[in-house]
Amino acid sequence: MRHDACLKVLAIAMSLMPINSCTNLMPPPQPSVSQAPFGATPDGKTVSVYTLRNRNGMEARIITYGGVILSLKVPDRNGKPGDVVLGYDSLPAYLASSPYFGALIGRYGNRIARGRFTLDGRTYTLATNNGPNHLHGGLQGFDKVVWEAEPFTTPDSVGIIFRYTSTDGEEGYPGTLRAQVVYNLTNDNALMFDYTASTDKPTPVNLTQHSYFNLAGDGARDILGHVVRVNADRFTPVDSTLIPTGELRSVVGTPFDFRTAHAIGERIGRDDEQLRFGLGYDHNFVLNRTGVGRDLVLAAEVHEPTTGRVMEIFTTEPGLQFYSGNFLDGTLRGKGGVVYRQRYGFAMETQHFPDSPNQAAFPSTILRPGREYRSRTIYRFSVRP
Ligand code: BGC
Repeated sequence: MRHDACLKVLAIAMSLMPINSCTNLMPPPQPSVSQAPFGATPDGKTVSVYTLRNRNGMEARIITYGGVILSLKVPDRNGKPGDVVLGYDSLPAYLASSPYFGALIGRYGNRIARGRFTLDGRTYTLATNNGPNHLHGGLQGFDKVVWEAEPFTTPDSVGIIFRYTSTDGEEGYPGTLRAQVVYNLTNDNALMFDYTASTDKPTPVNLTQHSYFNLAGDGARDILGHVVRVNADRFTPVDSTLIPTGELRSVVGTPFDFRTAHAIGERIGRDDEQLRFGLGYDHNFVLNRTGVGRDLVLAAEVHEPTTGRVMEIFTTEPGLQFYSGNFLDGTLRGKGGVVYRQRYGFAMETQHFPDSPNQAAFPSTILRPGREYRSRTIYRFSVRP
């Protein structure tokens, strides 16, 4: 049928139908991106919020402060969208205090022991902002800076290119680091992160994304019923300050064996030294890989049985920090006034192993001039009946 004849049939059909049936005949919406102001930082930098929509009912709202994912709407098994990440409604709340809700993490995701490392014979000192250790890039890490943003749309996806240049010596790290993170929301309901960086002096780099998920929606109850699989035969046990001991320990016979599916809450209360140190799960898993390359592998899968939502995590990284939101303690009031209590959200942070700059046997996190840092992670959403 010719296009105009088609439209005529559509118009007649629509005039015979109740209003709400019309949407069934509409072509699916195109991916779209819009921008709006979201306030300013105390030093006067304006912050924008971008709203990304794909063709299949997913919507992500992301701000230029910290590349924070404010909200992520994902359909449940009935097609009803729900917000699956924790966070705040306004910028002042993020500026006041945030346990890295939704944020980009850099230069170094997770801990560096005692805020010190030695590189090419020189010792560098970093802020100790987590007990005796350095955490998530320091006092003003990549989660607390305003990124330049460039939105884009393609027929298959919609996204933002974030750029930030970290000056030589920032937070104690050597070298000028030019970082770029591309967020891409695809029509098949995947949120993809492509990280690249270059430096003019050797420096550690370990970038990640710190969204807290609650696939039941709205962060309104704990995540203990979520069912998790992690593609890892080993994990990196930690000391009481959450620094890896250097051992790659088998998960066999431990509460860290997620090679088959287990609810987060099933074994979290066991009398286990590692669970005591982490107050629950707060551990790096050594992802199984075949071959020597850094291909994308399925790192983990999380299923929320009441809504049917499923999140799969694919990454090129060697590790995954599974954090069960143990340090949430009911003192933070998030979106819509919801109080975030212990284990109301979990994070799945793809990464190199914690404290790698001090652990020669771990895969190296040192980026050298002339080399490019590259990393990709995908969170793909679907539903089960
Ligand atoms: C760390 C936790 C920490 C959380 C929020 C996670 O990556 O492993 O120990 O509490 O981030 O800062």
